Amino acid sequence: MKKLEGKVALVSGSGRGIGRAIALKLASEGASVVVNDLDADPAAEVVEMIRKSGGEAVACAGNVTASEFPERFVRTALDHYRGLDTSSITPVIPGTASSRK
Ligand SMILES: NC(=O)c1ccc[n+]([C@@H]2O[C@H](COP(=O)([O-])OP(=O)(O)OC[C@H]3O[C@@H](n4cnc5c(N)ncnc54)[C@H](O)[C@@H]3O)[C@@H](O)[C@H]2O)c1
Repeated sequence: MKKLEGKVALVSGSGRGIGRAIALKLASEGASVVVNDLDADPAAEVVEMIRKSGGEAVACAGNVTASEFPERFVRTALDHYRGLDTSSITPVIPGTASSRK
């Protein structure tokens, strides 16, 4: 049994760079990952990478700083996975992600 099996991780800015590395690591440990990025293509690419390596992921493109986004982010997890509890949410915001519009 993997360490994060049954957990759902929300990872913002995970289409590239550090966020991507975090998403891939969490997935390799068994978490189902909701991959967010401003840009849809890299987010979809990360989802594909995770699925190809036997993991579980879904993309949720959008600006993490937008007021309506958090609800959509969590809703994506609830719609695709078994649900959420506070111990299964792993929000990660790379440093500059919040400064990009
Ligand atoms: N790469 C390094 O070695 C390093 C070292 C120390 C600190 N940092 C800092 O860590 C942060 C991330 O670095 P990185 O190299 O992973 O950057 P990156 O540009 O490769 O990746 C950031 C990702 O976040 C996405 N993003 C940006 N704003 C967003 C928003 N509002 N909503 C959703 N997604 C958004 C971008 O589209 C991009 O895909 C930066 O602040 C960087 O300065 C990086």
